[in-house]
Amino acid sequence: MKIKLISAAVLAGLLFGSQAAVAEESLLWALMTPLRQKELVPVENKLYKQECGACHFAYQPGLLPGKSWQKLLTHEALLDHFGEDADLDQESLKEIYDYALANAAEKSYHKRSRKIAISTAEGEPPLRITEVRYIKRKHHEIPDKMIRGNKKVKSLSNCNACHTQAAEGVFDEDTVSIPNYPKY
Ligand code: HEC
Ligand code: HEC
Repeated sequence: MKIKLISAAVLAGLLFGSQAAVAEESLLWALMTPLRQKELVPVENKLYKQECGACHFAYQPGLLPGKSWQKLLTHEALLDHFGEDADLDQESLKEIYDYALANAAEKSYHKRSRKIAISTAEGEPPLRITEVRYIKRKHHEIPDKMIRGNKKVKSLSNCNACHTQAAEGVFDEDTVSIPNYPKY
């Protein structure tokens, strides 16, 4: 009888203990909900916005994992950046590198960044956002004529051609409008 009582107490302790842990965890998640629902942190660094928004949309650092930014943001890589010279002086490179690394996908709890971090956790780090599996999957049904064959888009890399609130970090389906194909 005594043994039974003790084991019941132990069992109860285990049960309530683990329940408390579960409650704590879901409370943590509940507290983070606004972060998880907000899609992506917009670009806040002025230098990044200016230098990395000169030729194309200033991609939010949260769109790639840190290991991708580490590959993209060296003098050597920037000298031949997708066929263009996008090299920076030492001081600017350091500021942009530090900013990108601090805000990379895996550093963020925001929805899109979480998905991108998970999607790139294994394998070679992608050099393009458009090569991230999650991003590829979201676009593979769009016919090529609406992207490359579309003078107002030209490349899937031009996020803001279709995502009307891309600069605010919003990529939700409801905010998409493909130029020349408004009904897509
Ligand atoms: C001199 C012009 C130029 C500058 C400056 C520049 N880029 Fe690019 N970038 C390009 C071109 C061209 C591409 C390829 C676009 C394409 O394939 O449609 C590209 C592509 C990219 C891609 C891949 C996009 C994709 O396809 O997913 C990333 C990421 C990127 N740039 C980041 C940066 C960052 C960060 C900076 C600032 C350090 C920067 N770029 C500055 C010209 C530039
Ligand atoms: C040709 C227009 C076009 C371009 C360019 C484009 N997208 Fe999209 N994107 C779409 C469409 C359309 C959808 C909705 C797909 C669907 O039906 O779920 C989408 C979906 C997404 C989603 C998922 C949204 C959701 O609610 O699930 C993300 C994230 C996204 N795009 C990011 C990007 C990024 C980042 C870029 C640039 C590197 C980009 N897109 C370039 C058209 C585009």
